[in-house]
Formats: sequence, C-alpha cells, structure tokens
Amino acid sequence: MQTARTLELLRKSLAELRQDGGSVALVPTMGALHEGHLTLVREAREAADHVVASIFVNPRQFGEGEDLDAYPRQLQRDSELLEAEGVELLWAPTPDEVYPEGYATNISVAGVSAGLCGGDRPGHFDGVATVVCKLFNQVMPDMAFFGEKDWQQLAVIRRMARDLDLMRPHVDAIRGVPIVREEDGLAMSSRNAYLSARQREQAAALPKAMRDAIAVLAEGGEADRPLGNLREALRVSGFQSVDYAEIRDADSLAPLARDNGNSRLFVAARIGGTRLIDNMAVS
Ligand code: PAF
Repeated sequence: MQTARTLELLRKSLAELRQDGGSVALVPTMGALHEGHLTLVREAREAADHVVASIFVNPRQFGEGEDLDAYPRQLQRDSELLEAEGVELLWAPTPDEVYPEGYATNISVAGVSAGLCGGDRPGHFDGVATVVCKLFNQVMPDMAFFGEKDWQQLAVIRRMARDLDLMRPHVDAIRGVPIVREEDGLAMSSRNAYLSARQREQAAALPKAMRDAIAVLAEGGEADRPLGNLREALRVSGFQSVDYAEIRDADSLAPLARDNGNSRLFVAARIGGTRLIDNMAVS
C-alpha cells in the first residue's frame, strides 16, 4: 500500500493506479479505524477494482469546545489495518495540505442538514461537505463509501454530490453501508474509545431503548410517548442528557409526528463527556 501525504504524490500514485483503466472506490475516514470502517473497505473492494482510503481528522467539522484535539490519531495502526484489507493507496494529508494559507471556501448544504446533528453542532455539516467535496476532487473516485451510522451526513453528501455534479452520473455512486454493531447492540464508533468500562456497559441502553421505542412507533401511533419513554430509559441508565430523539422521513429527513412507512429513529445522547449517535429504521 502506498501512502500519499502531499497532493503531488497523491496525483502521481493515482495515475499509476488508474493505468489499467479499472474503477476506483474511495473510503473517506478520520482514522481510529474499527470494524465499521473495515466493512466499508470490504464493500468497496467488492464493488471496485481499486480502493483508496483517506485518513484526515478534519478540523472544520469540529465546533469550539468539541474533541478535535482529543480525537484518537493512530496512523501506523490504521495503515496496517487498511493494508491487510487490500487498500492500495492511503491518502493521509496534513491540515496545511488540505487548507493552505488563505483558504476561504465553504460548502453549505441546506435542507437535509437542518436539525438533528446540524442543529446541535452548528457548522459541522459545512465542514463535512467542504472536506468531502475536496476529497472527491482530489481522488476523483468512481464511487465512495460511507457508514449509515452518520445517516444525516450521508444525506448531506448525496445532496451535495447531486447538486454539484461531483461524481459520474450514476445513481449509486455514493454508497451507504449498514451500521456495524457490538454484541450488545452499541453502534461501532471511534468515540466509543472515550467511554470508561462502566459507561461502556451503560451505553448499551441506547440501542435497547431505541428498539423498545421502535416496537411502539411501528404500530403507527403518535411518537411523543415512546420518545418520552426512550429519554427516560436513557436517563435512568446513566445518560446525562439526550440532545435529540426524533423520527424523520428516511430520505428527505423531514420531521414526523408518527411513522409514515419510511421513517427512521434518530438519537444523540451524552454519557460522561461523550456524545453517542445512532439511528434505526422504524418501518
Ligand atoms: O464520517 C467521517 O469519518 C467524516 O465525517 C468524513 C466523512 C471522513 C469527513 O471528514
């Protein structure tokens, strides 16, 4: 596996990779890789001739007081994992390479970025859209793979790619991959590493409370009561706060008062200093 840390080297390595005319899949990550990321790589390998992964902890998607400095960085370990999965090229730029002196451009996607994580983390999706647009322009992949754990992020990226004609015009260029869960149901996340042993045990209440709420929501009644019960279940299990617990249309992300036959439950909740997010299909 080659590792490029400058745009010049990236371009040279991509030219070599593309010599056989095969397709290229991109798996963008911020590193601290877990089984969820490796599943993206495996899906990418199935779908394309060559896989390029990127690791870049993007400062523009972290707000003030968020965990940019604490975010786990383990390039050596991540490189070994990617190489073992058959990634041929790793793009691991420095912040200066991505945002050189004088950088002044921002991409903002309206609509699907409103509310949920977009409400709690102002500017977050601008940072995501901006860096993903840059990654697409840098690597020019035929397709790109993202985890469905960040369902709203996926919707933002799909909207941006359509609006800005970023990928080749086949519908399925932006691929979402289902959430990978631990045995107790907790969605895998690089941020799970922040949890103490006790918090990690308590965190399993999140997927359980969501499944319990879905059992009721799927009957089609008003969402208020099951969502209230979900908040209470998390509180008694040791979560400090619930940033949001909502059902929304899975595609448009329009807020819903009850299941519409295509809805998902979205939750963000805090345990210790750690903010966990998850989402599940209601119907
Ligand atoms: O999901 C992530 O890891 C990041 O938001 C992404 C898509 C790599 C952009 O920095």
